[in-house]
Amino acid sequence: MEVDACWRPTLTLRNLMYRTHHCNELRKSHAGETVTLSGWVNTVRDQGGVIFIDIRDREGVTQCVFRAEENAEAAKLSHSLRSEDVIQVAGRVDHRPEIDGQSTINEKIETGEVEIVVTDLTILNKAEVLPFQLDKELSNEDLRMKHRYLDLRRPRMTRNLRTRHAITKALRDGLDENGFAEIETPILSKSTPEGARDFLVPSRLNPGKFYALPQAPQQYKQLLMVAGIEKYFQIARCFRDEDLRADRQPEFTQVDIEASFISTEDIFALIEGLLTKVFAESRGVEIKTPFDRLDYWDAMDRYGNDKPERRFGCEIVDLSEHFKDSGFGVFKRAIEGGGVVRAINAKGFAGVSTGQIKRLEEVAKEAGAGGLAYIQVRGKAHDTWRSPIVKFFSEEELAAIEKDLNIEEGDLILFGCDSRRTVCDVLGRLRLECCEMNNWLEGKEGELDFLWVVDFPLLDYDDDEGKWNAVHHPFTRPKACDEALLEDESKWGEIRAEAYDVVLNGNELGGGSLRIHERDLQAQMFRVLGVDDEEQAENFGHILGAFQYGAPPHGGIALGLDRLVMLACKEESIREVIAFPKNNKGIDLMSASPAEVDFKQLREIYVKSTVQEKKD
Ligand code: AMO
Ligand code: AMP
Repeated sequence: MEVDACWRPTLTLRNLMYRTHHCNELRKSHAGETVTLSGWVNTVRDQGGVIFIDIRDREGVTQCVFRAEENAEAAKLSHSLRSEDVIQVAGRVDHRPEIDGQSTINEKIETGEVEIVVTDLTILNKAEVLPFQLDKELSNEDLRMKHRYLDLRRPRMTRNLRTRHAITKALRDGLDENGFAEIETPILSKSTPEGARDFLVPSRLNPGKFYALPQAPQQYKQLLMVAGIEKYFQIARCFRDEDLRADRQPEFTQVDIEASFISTEDIFALIEGLLTKVFAESRGVEIKTPFDRLDYWDAMDRYGNDKPERRFGCEIVDLSEHFKDSGFGVFKRAIEGGGVVRAINAKGFAGVSTGQIKRLEEVAKEAGAGGLAYIQVRGKAHDTWRSPIVKFFSEEELAAIEKDLNIEEGDLILFGCDSRRTVCDVLGRLRLECCEMNNWLEGKEGELDFLWVVDFPLLDYDDDEGKWNAVHHPFTRPKACDEALLEDESKWGEIRAEAYDVVLNGNELGGGSLRIHERDLQAQMFRVLGVDDEEQAENFGHILGAFQYGAPPHGGIALGLDRLVMLACKEESIREVIAFPKNNKGIDLMSASPAEVDFKQLREIYVKSTVQEKKD
């Protein structure tokens, strides 16, 4: 059975003035003791003039009863109690009585066998009526965010934050045990080419110059390797000005790791060990190691994605061989043009509705498909297959796809034909959409599918920019066997990197690489990326310089802490595991930030606001 190991009462720091026990502590064995509890009024019930309240603190709830014969004044005062008032009660622990032969024990709560017969009540602070109820799920996320301090009062949220603490601690302890030293690096730093837009900070002391908030401590951690630290880690805040989603925030936390004289095998073993510890200590579950490994193109071809969700089947099948000379022009032309024809078999989804087909078509088009070809397999005989395209297929083609896709009555077949990359993307998204529509993951919520995706391409050509970009970042090492291909531009797309991602249930949990530690190779890499010598000297002089003075071979990885905690807490958004997150427009609704600033403040940092000018 899964246990929630981190959710244990840990209130060891008792302040006897306010409490002798926490609200999830009293049991039958305490009966007869005089105790004091402090917390919030969770619920108030008036039963024939006798007030029952549940008092709540972060550990749980305890029932209190106010009887006039114990203390008439307290009983009277109890009538004024409202939800979320902060109170202190003192009284005697009593067994819950039997009433008319019926037990009043509440088995749903751990303190359900007892109640406190209150002799003293102190109201520490009254609460206004809350803008929302704490015991109900609230769909209005903006309202939750505006009053985040109340939202976090809910047990689920308190628990998420405490799980986050337990996970961070497990990681710190695990890294410490492995000889890693925690070292802080600057927040006011220099723009690093991690791929997203930077947040900039103007320098008052250096007019016209800007710091950048770090997208990751990538260069600093490599420089620490040159400095001979050998094993570094940091629970590092990172800042990226990018479009936000459920698994992305403009500021987020990485468990950033770097080590010298290390191989990918060492890094994999380290991370597998750390994640084993994390899941054991935060959830009490054992995970299976070593993790599977899938090379990048294998992941793309089979799942259409470099962070494959493998808990449901529905793998992509290549059918190009069968349609080379097809009578169906769309497929034939795609293959002639160097593309592929592939399909997925959405098992049992032949009953797809017209609306759903429309939605699937939209998904395919968003991913770049010209259209969506499909077959609803109504029966065994080919003439029962409902499809806008089967009429163009020969008997051999039908027989071949029937075999390769393991087609059975009731299935839905979805095709993609285009370049390999586009088809991967189209079918990758369609399989996830079908999964969502059919709830294929129901009952698999507890399954943890970890894997490594390895052998990423080093470079990717950006058609819009007309240049090559680093797939991971410019400091990533090409595989030794592919290094020579750097000399031949026509082969740049084929170079594989010593880069890897760790994936959990379709989420990219972390990524890293072995690094370039030779000055010349790093300079060559920059040239490939279109950074000329002058720009190199200006922007990367420090790291190129450092590599001249005995840089050891090194490599590392960064885990997305928010995503890790999200998955451990079985939440769907990282906002649920960050105390004060931004909404999807990058706004903190509680403090209303970002906000306008005084003209004077702008002048001091030599910034002229065009928005401000327009207003004036
Ligand atoms: P990368 O850019 O892959 O690598 O980031 C590492 C991990 O950080 C998490 N992550 C995010 N989490 C929340 N919100 C975001 N906006 C966000 N962006 C990234 C992901 C991701 O896998 N310096 C390299 C690491 C290295 O090479 O060692 C880096 O930052 O879980
Ligand atoms: P057309 O010949 O363009 O009318 O297309 C015939 C069928 O092929 C239609 O069902 C289209 O939706 C489908 N189709 C067209 N282009 C593609 C594509 N790139 N991938 C998959 N199906 C396609």
